[in-house]
Amino acid sequence: MGFATDCIHAGQEPDPSTGAIVTPIFQTSTYVQQGLGQHKGYEYARTQNPTRRALEKNLCALERGTDAYCFASGMAATNAVMSLIKPGQRVVVSDNVYGGTHRLFTKILAPYGVEFAFLDASDAGAFDKGAGEFALLWIETPTNPLMKVCDIAALAQAAHRRRALLVVDNTFMSPFFQRPLELGADIVVHSTTKFLNGHSDSVGGVAVVKDKAHAQWLQYYQNAAGAILSPFDSWLVLRGTKTLAVRMPRHEENGRRVATFLREQKKVRKVYWPGFTDHPGHDVHRRQSSGFGALISFDLGTREAADRLLRAVKLCSLGESLGGVETLISHPATMTHAGYTQPERDALGIGNGLVRVSVGIEDPEDLVADLGRGLDAV
Ligand SMILES: Cc1ncc(COP(=O)(O)O)c(C=O)c1O
Repeated sequence: MGFATDCIHAGQEPDPSTGAIVTPIFQTSTYVQQGLGQHKGYEYARTQNPTRRALEKNLCALERGTDAYCFASGMAATNAVMSLIKPGQRVVVSDNVYGGTHRLFTKILAPYGVEFAFLDASDAGAFDKGAGEFALLWIETPTNPLMKVCDIAALAQAAHRRRALLVVDNTFMSPFFQRPLELGADIVVHSTTKFLNGHSDSVGGVAVVKDKAHAQWLQYYQNAAGAILSPFDSWLVLRGTKTLAVRMPRHEENGRRVATFLREQKKVRKVYWPGFTDHPGHDVHRRQSSGFGALISFDLGTREAADRLLRAVKLCSLGESLGGVETLISHPATMTHAGYTQPERDALGIGNGLVRVSVGIEDPEDLVADLGRGLDAV
């Protein structure tokens, strides 16, 4: 089936008991059994829930995986995937990943004896030569917030030469634009909170896998650790994915308009968006994705300048998160990447004047006018 058809239909059948076209919210904690060991495949709702399973099948189809497991947040999905790693193993992470991922790895998992190295993976050849041995490579592409592009196919080869796994956090692109499993990655993770749900009204996460052993482990882990996605959140994300194929092109069209506008403004020192032909990762991104997305970062030089813009805009809402129909604007140094120390942010180039915008699907003229008003205040 085509991608838009899968968005609407994959994993979903009319409800067998009523014919309801929309998968119901199975809001139950348990299921009545007919006798000892006699049930319909459902015992307890942490272990199995039909609404969650419908979403897992849907997301599995969209990412072209073999199975998928949904969790209570993107971070819970990330933590679940990291349970494949044992103390003493080394994990390499592309530098400037989402601050919460960096925090989970360095503050929660490192004390359990997992070794983490944060390296620039945007030059796959140099990375392969210098990265040393590792058991798992974790990347985002484009990276958050500096939009560095990583070559998924080349990094998959680098990982597999070491018998290691490549995990891609595909939250920024969504499977509409980029499907890492088709390019050689082993596992894809999403914060479903973002484009997949798309309406800023649910927090969740998913891990999509290719390998049956990984699927078995994640199913076991999901039940054992228990950070499951609720039935209502599963239903909201299922509702969101139905329109993914119509939302994403509009997000991108607006993203291009906003990025182009920002680049023309004298007060903006630099705009980070992989859609510009002179972006260092443009060609790689174009090869591995079908669009450039709606996440744009731009540098205003100082925290004071960023603060003035963020206070002056009206339509662009100052807030954490991204990927909703409404435009959200944020300040990585004090928000998404506050978990990094100032020297770490300086080393990565995440300056205090950096602003990130997740461009929504409003009328682009209104967005440009709002950002223009914001820049007038700088
Ligand atoms: C790229 C990326 N990955 C993972 C996460 C974590 O997701 P959640 O907030 O759903 O836990 C975020 C959240 O902002 C993100 O931007």
